[in-house]
Amino acid sequence: MSDLRNSAPLLDAYLSYFESARTPFTIPGHKQKTSRLDAGLGSVVDSDTPLYGGLDEIKLTNKTLIKAEKLAADFWGADYARFSTGGSTHANQAIVLALGAPGEKVAVSRTAHRSILSALVLAGLEPVWMSPEIDEATGVPIGIGIAELERALDEKPIAVLLTEPGYLGTLSDLPTLIKAAHAQSVPVILDAAWGGHFGFHPELPQHALQLGADALITSVHKALPGYSASALLLAQGKYLNLDRIEQSFETTHTTSPAGAPLASIDGVRALLQTRGTELISDLLKNVSRFKELVQAEFALPIFLYPSDFPEGRFDPTKIVLRVQQLGASGVEIEKDLQSAGIRVEMADRDTIVFLATLADTEAEFDALANALIPILKRRQEQRRESATALSWSVVPQRGISMRDAYFAKTEMIDAAKAEGRISADLIAPYPPGVAVVAPGEILTDQILHGLKASKEAGVRIAYATDPTLTSYRVVI
Ligand SMILES: Cc1ncc(COP(=O)(O)O)c(C=O)c1O
Repeated sequence: MSDLRNSAPLLDAYLSYFESARTPFTIPGHKQKTSRLDAGLGSVVDSDTPLYGGLDEIKLTNKTLIKAEKLAADFWGADYARFSTGGSTHANQAIVLALGAPGEKVAVSRTAHRSILSALVLAGLEPVWMSPEIDEATGVPIGIGIAELERALDEKPIAVLLTEPGYLGTLSDLPTLIKAAHAQSVPVILDAAWGGHFGFHPELPQHALQLGADALITSVHKALPGYSASALLLAQGKYLNLDRIEQSFETTHTTSPAGAPLASIDGVRALLQTRGTELISDLLKNVSRFKELVQAEFALPIFLYPSDFPEGRFDPTKIVLRVQQLGASGVEIEKDLQSAGIRVEMADRDTIVFLATLADTEAEFDALANALIPILKRRQEQRRESATALSWSVVPQRGISMRDAYFAKTEMIDAAKAEGRISADLIAPYPPGVAVVAPGEILTDQILHGLKASKEAGVRIAYATDPTLTSYRVVI
């Protein structure tokens, strides 16, 4: 029984496909009958049906996808909505490709995900970097300040690209930033990969479009219960060219989208629309009860709390464990949790992120608390400072453009010989996930020593070709 199918046309089409008799002489080649050949392979592919010839006729005569996208656009209050089976990675690429022409500038938060950087390379756009402000008490980036945005706007970018919320759940003062950009008719695009649930509950931050932004990209498989790599791109036509976005979206999307991710986006939209407030209330209750249960066992604050940040600038569903408050190793705690059958979203030396969603029950939060408390007690040592200072102190030195660095011939060289060379890699210690060096920038003594020190302190070094930092990929 699906209560949602009556208000979710793609979900209904997916379910109807499997309820009806069929003899497909179309792709996909598994024909939903591959368990005849092998039960294992069949269990992977036999529940798959594509958009073309599955959720709709081969010629898309029923326009099921268009209907579902219109429902999503209406629900989020957007002029335009597209469903992607390629994650926020694809949606980011599609929108960035639609912004301007090679050589033009865009203001970009230094906390941007690598999919934004790859999009800039594809589009030939030049980043004007904006560094986030850091909350002194927690060491966590709290978004882009207005002075930083105004400095970037002085360079006449054609768009502002922000990552909101950040990986640890914090947000910039978005209304102020959006107002400043719009005062110069510059569109604001929010990569809200982790904020798909925003905007549908009074205790959650509003979503990007409610705040006046021009585009919202979100992963439906992250904070929302969608199929892996399902994503939504929503946009307004005032400052953005929707025809160009449509063209870029199609240029970069598969021509054979799988039906399950699409049907799941439609179903998640209908779920939020019909039961969103109730389900988010339960989630908020479960998360805060879980944090209280665990926190009660320790003297120092060990989680990030909404009260740590200005009003409305932290996602209250986020569970971020500040392991350094306990002097413990996040990586070791992760291993202990894995032995208990629990996987976490992210763990490094100082931080563990547990992803909590509408799909979790109170009993599962209890199970997590029961497993976690004894592990934390066993691993607890002396509190230490968070080892993230490097990410905030580096002033990027541009050698060549990111696009030139991408297409350049590169080589791996020994770390001892890397100083003064141009990096071909983006390198970002996690957390905070802020790039210390981007492709085309110079590897300075400060960066090399800083990265080495972070690595030795047990910080995860993301995106480097050689994450051990014994060697670096540089432009020849
Ligand atoms: C901020 C941000 N944007 C985009 C992405 C890419 O999302 P997806 O995995 O849906 O392609 C991620 C993935 O972690 C992310 O953290």
